[in-house]
Amino acid sequence: MSTIRRLAPAIVGLAAVASAALAQEPVPPHAGAGGHDHDATVHHRFDDVERWSKVFDDPARDAWQKPEDLIRFLAVKPGQAVADLGAGTGYFTTRLARAVGPSGKVFGVDIEPTLVEHIRERAAKERLPQIVAVLAAPDDPKLPEHGVDLILVCDTWHHIDDRTVYLGKLARVLRSGGRVAVVDYRPGDQPVGPPPEHKLPPERVVEEFQQGGFGLAGRSEALPYQYVLVFAPR
Ligand SMILES: C[S@@+](CC[C@H](N)C(=O)[O-])C[C@H]1O[C@@H](n2cnc3c(N)ncnc32)[C@H](O)[C@@H]1O
Repeated sequence: MSTIRRLAPAIVGLAAVASAALAQEPVPPHAGAGGHDHDATVHHRFDDVERWSKVFDDPARDAWQKPEDLIRFLAVKPGQAVADLGAGTGYFTTRLARAVGPSGKVFGVDIEPTLVEHIRERAAKERLPQIVAVLAAPDDPKLPEHGVDLILVCDTWHHIDDRTVYLGKLARVLRSGGRVAVVDYRPGDQPVGPPPEHKLPPERVVEEFQQGGFGLAGRSEALPYQYVLVFAPR
């Protein structure tokens, strides 16, 4: 974490210049004219692998996403089973797979069949057999019961419907001592991320997890544009 803190000011400057168009999400038709309904779920498709690979896997993202520092903060260890929920093109899935090593397992979970196929192909190409690509349903992560030590939810929580109910399903997936980490964009205008009206303030996420039977177990404000919240079942 200290690395993130030391580098944060430099990262902000670099990212502002280099990443203005990065990680933007299209405005879905139902979004209205700038309403701020933080309870609303944002629905749109991520089925275009080529388009989203350019965004999610843009090398410039590393400067502000600091994936290796985040994985260190989350204390991911060799041999663990980790789920990347809303895995997209596998930006975190592949990095988590290196962190858990060949004795571990990483579930790359998404609801877009094209992305799940892409993750499967990427895992083979990058020789990471510990990756299991999972086609989830919007209301079901389709993960093994008590099979996962950590669920990472990066830039995805606001896409999920009925989140309190969904949390019951995540609780069943966790092993004893398991955690869920939510990484998402801070409210307000920033050079990267979705439009402000799509963002969930961290207090809202904490409230939802509390309603879903989880307690806040850790947090970090070290990333320049995103908060990190870690939850454990109560
Ligand atoms: C903004 S992308 C984030 C991708 C990835 N986590 C990253 O940081 O590069 C959100 C992803 O969540 C997926 N998604 C949306 N709703 C989902 C759900 N209910 N369950 C699992 N994945 C979902 C989308 O298909 C998309 O790939």
